[in-house]
Amino acid sequence: MTRAIVVREYGGPEKLLWEDVPVGEPGPGELLIRHTAIGVNFHDTYVRSGSYKTLTLPGIPGVEAAGVVEKVGTDVTAFVPGDRIVYVTQSYGAYSEQRVLPASVAFRIPDAISNEAAASLAVKGLTACMLLRHTRRVLPEETILVHAAAGGVGQFLVHWGKHLGARVIATVGSTEKAKIARGCGADEVILYRNENFVERVKSFTHGRGVDVVYDSVGADTFDGSLECLGYFGTLVNFGQSSGPVPPFAISRLAARSNAVVRPIVFHYLRERSARDAMAEETFKMVLAGVLTPRIGLRVPLNEASRAHTALESRSTTGAIILTV
Ligand SMILES: NC(=O)c1ccc[n+]([C@@H]2O[C@H](COP(=O)([O-])OP(=O)(O)OC[C@H]3O[C@@H](n4cnc5c(N)ncnc54)[C@H](OP(=O)(O)O)[C@@H]3O)[C@@H](O)[C@H]2O)c1
Repeated sequence: MTRAIVVREYGGPEKLLWEDVPVGEPGPGELLIRHTAIGVNFHDTYVRSGSYKTLTLPGIPGVEAAGVVEKVGTDVTAFVPGDRIVYVTQSYGAYSEQRVLPASVAFRIPDAISNEAAASLAVKGLTACMLLRHTRRVLPEETILVHAAAGGVGQFLVHWGKHLGARVIATVGSTEKAKIARGCGADEVILYRNENFVERVKSFTHGRGVDVVYDSVGADTFDGSLECLGYFGTLVNFGQSSGPVPPFAISRLAARSNAVVRPIVFHYLRERSARDAMAEETFKMVLAGVLTPRIGLRVPLNEASRAHTALESRSTTGAIILTV
């Protein structure tokens, strides 16, 4: 047996229950992992609330964690007990002390990166890699708009976008977050709870608009994000922290020959070769000092509800880690 956070019915953070659960032995191609740091993602809140119905109930949420290999099943040659690994999985189950996992989804953690840092950047760093390097490759001299720029994914987008040579306009929800976004390298920062971000973007770009908007906020920002696009600009909607985006008329894209895309990181990680290449590129960015994993909040695993409350109240910056 091990201990884990279990969701039995959809609802608020109080639905995250601390329970004893069975943990099996690793079968062929599998690893038994002891988690040391579990990454909290906004996705986990959608799964808990029922906004996404992708976790079969009762179920253990969580899509990323770092830990130590305790046992390997037959046929596993890439790992041995004692190895430090991090993983991203669409099969959930990361909110647990131990678990069995297919070895194929695990990445060895480079020596210079701690388990906590690895857990803070697996989903968020790979998402930044997907968005900037694959969904819409950002080119030097382009201007990008990053919403929620002091958040977990947001900080990586600002750091990496600047590294690619883009001009980065950031939106954030508070003056404290504005300092963080500037510290990540943002050229312009907009307090979008007080200021009209469309007008500010138009002013910063002399009416031209931006090449790409990275929008994880969804309902509250989608319309404005579309208005911020210049000719041939792309709106990348990759989240819905404020709620789902309502249906919109595709004819609106004709105003400036725009595109809207809605990528999901798990889809980009389906093939082993793509997964390895994206992980290698992301780790390289950390080792080179381009991406700095910042953990804004650490909470013991059995108090995961506290982490969800904080994330949903917009009070967090950087990544949240559940410690074991
Ligand atoms: N498509 C994918 O594959 C993929 C992968 C990873 C993450 N995501 C998405 O990326 C987003 C960021 O994830 P994260 O884990 O790094 O979270 P996060 O950005 O650290 O936290 C969410 C932030 O969104 C902003 N926000 C705006 N309106 C909000 C509202 N009504 N309620 C709560 N937050 C609101 C807040 O920042 P301000 O106070 O600055 O507004 C808040 O801090 C999420 O939407 C997530 O679903 C998508």
